[in-house]
Amino acid sequence: MMRRSILKGEWLLSSKRILSGMRPTGKLHLGNLHGALTNWVDLQNSGQYDCFYFVADWHAITSDYESTDSIRDNGIQMVIDWLSAGLDPQKSTLFVQSAIKEHAELFLLLSMITPLAWLQRNPTYKEMQAELTSRDLSTFGFLGYPVLQAADIIMYKAYGVPVGVDQLPHIELTREIVRRFNYLYQKEVFVVPEPLLTSVPKLLGVDGRKMSKSYDNAIYMSDRGKVLQTKIASMFTDPQRMRRTDPGDPDICNVFSFHGLYSAPQTVSEINAACRVAEIGCIECKKKLASRIEEAMAPIHERMDYYTSHLPEISDIIAAGNQKAADVARRTMEEVRAAVKI
Ligand code: TRP
Ligand code: SF4
Repeated sequence: MMRRSILKGEWLLSSKRILSGMRPTGKLHLGNLHGALTNWVDLQNSGQYDCFYFVADWHAITSDYESTDSIRDNGIQMVIDWLSAGLDPQKSTLFVQSAIKEHAELFLLLSMITPLAWLQRNPTYKEMQAELTSRDLSTFGFLGYPVLQAADIIMYKAYGVPVGVDQLPHIELTREIVRRFNYLYQKEVFVVPEPLLTSVPKLLGVDGRKMSKSYDNAIYMSDRGKVLQTKIASMFTDPQRMRRTDPGDPDICNVFSFHGLYSAPQTVSEINAACRVAEIGCIECKKKLASRIEEAMAPIHERMDYYTSHLPEISDIIAAGNQKAADVARRTMEEVRAAVKI
């Protein structure tokens, strides 16, 4: 009985908190914007949640431990893009993982109770090891990546974690770790978090592969003017459409997917019809897209210009966010140490 009511109380207290993080990859591209960031901003602006968003800089080192030179700058660059996209430090808590040392302490304690087998069977672990052959990822830290992620999430007793499908195994692992902790130490210290799935529109890079910094095919949030126009002009379209007079198939055209996001429904259906009967050419279609993206990104670029020329404000925003996160983390760790009796 007692356990139940404590659980309920905890849940009510934290039911409105959500948390998510991104590794500091530097400037963000439109895939990041539509895949995650826009959703973060919407959750913030719904006014229903207490949002915590953080730069997962320790996570970056799990794979990039050989080249850490730009981690700090990349984090700052990323926060500029967050603010430009509309994250508001008055509404959301924006912080940096490595500034909150409690994450490391909780990670250590969780690592004591996490069976190796749970980590070894993690699909992301296996995939990344197979893919990133340029680096030796048979390290302790890389295997423990999801344990650190669990610490990030449960430190703030987040009820919901907005993520893409690729992160589901990590959230599931977090849930198992929470249950194990609460059971072992006979106290409902932690909340079992729910994934809040972000539905990701399928945006590919200019070459038709997944949009990624490492493929050099990304359209960045910061791209505008000539740079943007040239990138859009170079985009792959329907490969069957060789000549202007050939009819095209918008369903298999990446440019058309972008129109779906940026153009008015009316324009989208006009292009859809016109492309199929070769009434519109790809050059014109791409020009329309470039100007729509430019228009939609204008307020974002305006904020980007502001923050880029007011860098000290970024440090202040991060310092204030770190402070708020630290307050929560300190209280959680007091409970954790009491439960573990250490
Ligand atoms: N693993 C996440 C990613 O690669 C980043 C991350 C780290 C995260 N800690 C988190 C996401 C906690 C959500 C919650 O995208
Ligand atoms: Fe794609 Fe537009 Fe060309 Fe049709 S006209 S193939 S939608 S770029």
